[in-house]
Amino acid sequence: MKLILLGPPGAGKGTQCKRIIDKYNLAHLSSGDILRAERAAGSELGKKAQRYMDSGALVPDDLIIDMMIAAIKKAPKAGYVLDGFPRTVVQAEGLDKALTAAGEEIDAIVELQVPDSAILSRMTGRRSCPVCGQVYHIVNLKPKKDGQCDKGCGALVQRKDDTPDVVDNRLKTYHAQTAAVVGYYKTKFPILAINADQEIDKVTTDVFEGLAKLAR
Ligand code: AP5
Ligand code: MG
Repeated sequence: MKLILLGPPGAGKGTQCKRIIDKYNLAHLSSGDILRAERAAGSELGKKAQRYMDSGALVPDDLIIDMMIAAIKKAPKAGYVLDGFPRTVVQAEGLDKALTAAGEEIDAIVELQVPDSAILSRMTGRRSCPVCGQVYHIVNLKPKKDGQCDKGCGALVQRKDDTPDVVDNRLKTYHAQTAAVVGYYKTKFPILAINADQEIDKVTTDVFEGLAKLAR
């Protein structure tokens, strides 16, 4: 199965992806997580991406398309969930081209819908594991032990781009450049629109039920 998970910053893409990949045994290909790993490793790509990520702007399309196509080529046969990619129509076209060349196709798009007003408290309360990528929240999804990953990886961190100013820019960037990607896919693949302004477990139930219906 090959899925694309779309939605604004803080929609719960990372949170729901972890549950989808566990259920369907898929790879989680998150452009944001890959970029953060490149930055942590001090690679050329990581250095180039830094200033865009810290301000809430998008990293240039050519860098992202090359990075994500390389990740897709390494993904297992069972499939993957793309999280945070494609984020522009140019990226969507780049993905289409690469998949067509490989004789492959996306099975479905999952769109997590959340109003902007719900986003800020999600972002400022988010804590993430820098080792396994598991996402927590200080109120909505607490780790078992304060500040520590449940999987025993160690201390949780707060993302640099989760400050109110940068979140505001990320939302503006989303509406200006990413929202159009849903329209681009509307005539191509089934789109599962999910109300993600509900409790995390309810969102997961709706995603699983929607995917099961599509498979029938
Ligand atoms: P990226 O890492 O992709 O960030 P994002 O899209 O802004 O999304 P987030 O990861 O912030 O949110 P999420 O939807 O995953 O939510 P989460 O599950 O964590 O990108 C970062 C940067 O990298 C970009 O700004 C850009 O610079 C660059 N970049 C990445 N991809 C790119 C691309 N394709 N092109 C160009 N540049 C790119 O949840 C958030 C919090 O809310 C958590 O604490 C969680 O516990 C909580 N939560 C989740 N669901 C719920 C719920 N239903 N109710 C209450 N709380 C919830
Ligand atoms: Mg994420």
